[in-house]
Amino acid sequence: MAGADKRTRTADRALRERARAVIPGGMYGHQAAGSLPPEYPQFMRGGRGATVWDVDGNSYVDLMCSYGPVVLGHQHPAVEAAVAAQAELGDCQNGPAPVMIDLAELLVATVQHADWAMFAKNGTDATTMCCTIARAQTGRRRILVARGAYHGAAPWCTPRLDGTTAADRANLGYFRYNDLPSVHAAAAEAGDDLAGILASPFRHDASCDQEMVDPAFARGLRELCDATGAALILDDVRAGFRLHLGSSWEPIGVAPDLSAWSKAIANGHPLAAVLGGDAFRDGASRVFVTGSFWFSAAAMAAAVATIRALRAEDAIAAMRRYGTEIAGGILAQAAAWGFEVNYTGPVQMPYLTFRDDRGHALVSEFSAEAVRRGAFIHPRHNWFVSAAMTGEDVATVLAATDGAFAALRKHH
Ligand SMILES: Cc1ncc(COP(=O)(O)O)c(C=O)c1O
Repeated sequence: MAGADKRTRTADRALRERARAVIPGGMYGHQAAGSLPPEYPQFMRGGRGATVWDVDGNSYVDLMCSYGPVVLGHQHPAVEAAVAAQAELGDCQNGPAPVMIDLAELLVATVQHADWAMFAKNGTDATTMCCTIARAQTGRRRILVARGAYHGAAPWCTPRLDGTTAADRANLGYFRYNDLPSVHAAAAEAGDDLAGILASPFRHDASCDQEMVDPAFARGLRELCDATGAALILDDVRAGFRLHLGSSWEPIGVAPDLSAWSKAIANGHPLAAVLGGDAFRDGASRVFVTGSFWFSAAAMAAAVATIRALRAEDAIAAMRRYGTEIAGGILAQAAAWGFEVNYTGPVQMPYLTFRDDRGHALVSEFSAEAVRRGAFIHPRHNWFVSAAMTGEDVATVLAATDGAFAALRKHH
């Protein structure tokens, strides 16, 4: 691995320069490195297991996992073999391949609340479809969401309002995550127009300390939906198959009516899914939802191989184990260097903040120092641990974070 001071950015700088001329803003969306410290590369060359390389050849232990899609590690052999075999037969065709049914059957067998599955490409497709199905089934309009939660980048849910209209959000109501009275107030306001309640499995809003779900809150949502006939929709796009091999609320015993999936279900291949129970099957069969690439077979083959490998490799337990080691190491380092930190969320998807850190200045500096030392973390987004990590990777991460704390101590 290149040392902190040996890292170069020549190729990355040249690509950024070319991008500025032909890509609006040079890059857009959640992977735009422009708002990150200069230590972050924008363009990546590739990855294998838990290691990624930027275009200048610098290597990192990957704690972002492509912002969630990679769960078994980059270029997982069984997943890539399944993709190659399907691609050789056909990918984008006049109709779906049989693997679509294999995948739907596997998901229905794997996720307790699911009686059926539909497929799309991105998480936003899946959350939007869940809302459409809830409305089609109930004949009502209003969907309740937690204020500040991220459910995608369509006009009804994008966090930036540029280019959207008030009408795009006219049928949303808002509550505070883990605050049942605020949900009841929003439901009362919706009255007999309540179509659904959309929630993530835990609070993972960008730049904020994460908050685990209060099981009583999740049960309260279920009871409210049972009482009103509204759909309980779980947005498992980010957490799905990282916390549990099933819906993320199975361990607390709360079954949604509909759930949205994407990111990790095909280990980096483009796929999203909506899973639902029989009570919403009719609405799901009536909505018209589709896309030119939604039925491509290779990503579905990737998902079948991913779900099988998650089980065969006991991947959730591996992520929890490595996540626990990283959490313990970082918390001990913070204490040893005299920093007060919050390390929040599940250990497989942690996020670090510094106490009283105005404008995220300290965590930005910390993350930049960690990146310089070969641990790819993020200052304003939760991190992701993959099942491909090794003890050596954990040691590299902890050496990098220890060096980052030491560098911070010099300046603060
Ligand atoms: C919880 C959640 N829902 C929905 C989405 C949207 O997914 P996509 O970016 O694939 O459209 C994301 C993406 O980060 C997400 O984290």
